[in-house]
This record gives sequence, structure tokens and C-alpha cells, in this order.
Amino acid sequence: MLSTTLLTIGALAAGVDAHFRLLQPTWRGSSFVEPASQWIYPCANVNETTDNANRTLWPPSGGSLVINGSHPHALTAVNLALGSNATNFNISLVEIFNQTGVGLFCLKEAGKANLDAGFKAAGYSGLNDSRIEGLQATVQVIQLGHSGSALYNCADIRFNSTAQLLADDKCQNSTGVSGVAIENVDTNSSQSGSTTPAKSSSAASALSPAVGSSLLAGLLAWGLL
Ligand SMILES: *[C@@H]1O[C@H](CO)[C@@H](O)[C@H](O)[C@H]1NC(C)=O
Ligand SMILES: *[C@@H]1O[C@H](CO)[C@@H](O)[C@H](O)[C@H]1NC(C)=O
Ligand SMILES: *[C@@H]1O[C@H](CO)[C@@H](O)[C@H](O)[C@H]1NC(C)=O
Ligand SMILES: *[C@@H]1O[C@H](CO)[C@@H](O)[C@H](O)[C@H]1NC(C)=O
Ligand SMILES: *[C@@H]1O[C@H](CO)[C@@H](O)[C@H](O)[C@H]1NC(C)=O
Ligand SMILES: *[C@@H]1O[C@H](CO)[C@@H](O)[C@H](O)[C@H]1NC(C)=O
Ligand SMILES: *[C@@H]1O[C@H](CO)[C@@H](O)[C@H](O)[C@H]1NC(C)=O
Ligand SMILES: *[C@@H]1O[C@H](CO)[C@@H](O)[C@H](O)[C@H]1NC(C)=O
Ligand SMILES: *[C@@H]1O[C@H](CO)[C@@H](O)[C@H](O)[C@H]1NC(C)=O
Ligand SMILES: *[C@@H]1O[C@H](CO)[C@@H](O)[C@H](O)[C@H]1NC(C)=O
Repeated sequence: MLSTTLLTIGALAAGVDAHFRLLQPTWRGSSFVEPASQWIYPCANVNETTDNANRTLWPPSGGSLVINGSHPHALTAVNLALGSNATNFNISLVEIFNQTGVGLFCLKEAGKANLDAGFKAAGYSGLNDSRIEGLQATVQVIQLGHSGSALYNCADIRFNSTAQLLADDKCQNSTGVSGVAIENVDTNSSQSGSTTPAKSSSAASALSPAVGSSLLAGLLAWGLL
């Protein structure tokens, strides 16, 4: 008997090629050109930016994020690793959500809800800690692909409290593009016939921390994230 978790993963797999572009912050380099490959963890096999001046300046309270998606919907997460050449993307800027629609998707202040806690977990006093000014970091955007495996893109940033958010005309969702909560499925596999989705309330809740936690637990259990 298939567990509902497996059924859920099957439901996620609804397309062949969900490659995407990370437009803001500026990605390390194109991940469409070999030897880069968006399938390769953690940063699509694109090397870290060596020129400090080429890192996008980001406010410590959260910066603008723009992706250009090619898929009608893709589960998406945004993470951060502090430091240079870091491989530990353990600060969750935006918890996993369902990015819907093909085209441009923009969050004006990605990470606003989570950065202060992330800095604290890393030993800073919070987002106003003076040591964060000029600190290097890497933003990682993940979209789940066809088979449940993941696509990656990274952008190298520098935190700078004078950094500006994108202007409104440069931060827009294309028509029909949005982000919604994951439709949770009861992952209690001992309970047959429990596939009724418990649809989360609204798009407004899409980017809140608790969204999709039981689905996420299911994915983690399968080692997919
Ligand atoms: C990436 O870094 C590795 C190791 O330093 C190096 O061998 C490789 O040439 C670099 N790739 C590019 C495209 O610069
Ligand atoms: C830095 O950015 C400039 C302008 O986009 C570009 O010409 C240059 O190649 C970049 N440097 C590196 C090391 O990527
Ligand atoms: C987004 O991707 C589409 C399809 O590849 C392309 O036509 C469009 O120009 C891209 N938009 C931007 C702003 O890069
Ligand atoms: C980055 O990390 C890789 C893998 O740990 C290592 O081989 C490389 O020398 C590091 N590069 C720098 C500039 O520290
Ligand atoms: C992330 O990893 C770094 C380095 O290993 C560690 O110092 C920090 O506490 C971790 N942060 C979280 C939120 O787990
Ligand atoms: C950081 O400093 C700004 C300006 O002084 C203040 O408005 C904000 O509340 C502070 N944030 C935190 C988390 O301490
Ligand atoms: C922050 O950005 C401003 C404007 O680009 C620059 O003058 C300043 O040196 C930066 N601060 C740090 C710590 O990099
Ligand atoms: C794009 O859609 C997401 C999800 O609905 C939303 O949080 C975000 O604010 C939208 N972006 C803009 C610029 O309105
Ligand atoms: C994501 O949204 C699409 C479009 O509304 C929907 O078909 C799909 O089932 C959703 N996926 C999840 C896991 O919520
Ligand atoms: C899972 O479902 C079984 C059968 O309905 C029930 O006995 C059990 O309490 C459920 N477990 C959880 C954690 O909900």
C-alpha cells in the first residue's frame, strides 16, 4: 500500500523541466551553461563570486528576491548561508511554499520574518549587530523538480544596512504568478484513505513559518530536501 506521503510526492511531480532563473539578488552566473547544472547541490555547480564588488548589497532586515519561473507551479524555498564559501544553508529565509504561475515572482523583503532569529542562532545579537555590516552570505533558492528532486540557484550577497529594496516597478509578480500555501495531506500512513487535502486558508498565509510543515516532514523523511 502506498503511503499518503508517496501519493503527495506523486502529486508534486507535475512537469518535466522547472528550471528557473534567479534575477535578484544577482545570481553567481548562469546555471544553464555547463558545467553548471541546476540539479547540483547546493549552488548548481557555479562557483562563488570572487569579486566582492559583484555581490548584491542586501539589507540585514531582508532583501528583494526575483525569480523567473518556467513551470506552472513549483514548491520553492529560500535559504541563506552566512560567510564566504559557506556550505551550510541553515537559515530559512522563506519556508517552502507553492510558487504558482510562469514568469516573474518577487518578494520585496525576503527573509524579513526570519533573519533576526537566524543571526541570533549564528551567534550575533540580532540584525542590528554591527558585525553584520559588510558580512558576506549566499542566498540559495530551491525549486522541486519533476521527480521530487531539487533545482538550485545561488546568489552571493553582502549585508549592508544602506542597501535599497527594489523599487515597486522592478518588483512585481507577472500576471497569474503568485505563491500559495502547500495543500497539506494527512501524512498518517497508518490511516488508509486519508488523502483529503486540508487546504490552507489563503495566499496571505503562504509565506508563514508553519505552512506545509507536515508535508515538509514527509519530504524530509524521504530524504528529498
Ligand atoms: C570553480 O572552482 C574550481 C575550484 O577552484 C575551479 O577548478 C574551476 O575552474 C572553477 N570554475 C569556473 C567556471 O571558474
Ligand atoms: C563583475 O561584474 C562585472 C559587471 O557585470 C563583470 O563584467 C565581471 O566579469 C564580474 N566579475 C566577476 C569576477 O564575475
Ligand atoms: C523570463 O523568462 C521568459 C521565458 O524564458 C523570458 O521570455 C523573459 O524575458 C524572462 N524575463 C526576464 C525579466 O528575464
Ligand atoms: C571553498 O570550498 C571548497 C570546498 O570546501 C574548497 O575546495 C575551496 O578551496 C574553497 N575556496 C575558498 C576561496 O575558500
Ligand atoms: C548554521 O550553521 C552555523 C555554522 O555551522 C552555526 O554556527 C549556526 O548556529 C547554524 N544556524 C542555525 C540556525 O542552525
Ligand atoms: C534595529 O534598529 C532599528 C533602528 O534603530 C530599530 O527600528 C529596530 O527595531 C531594531 N531592530 C531590532 C530587531 O532590534
Ligand atoms: C555599504 O554600502 C555603502 C554604499 O554602497 C558603502 O559606501 C559602504 O562602504 C558599505 N558598507 C560596508 C560595510 O560594506
Ligand atoms: C508576489 O506573490 C507573493 C505570494 O502571493 C506575495 O507574497 C508577494 O508580495 C507578491 N509580490 C508582489 C511584488 O506583490
Ligand atoms: C500548487 O499549486 C498548483 C496550482 O494551483 C496545484 O495544482 C498544486 O496541487 C499545488 N501543489 C501543492 C503541493 O500544494
Ligand atoms: C493515525 O491513524 C490511526 C488510525 O486512524 C490512529 O489510530 C492514530 O492515532 C493516528 N496517528 C496520528 C499521529 O494521528
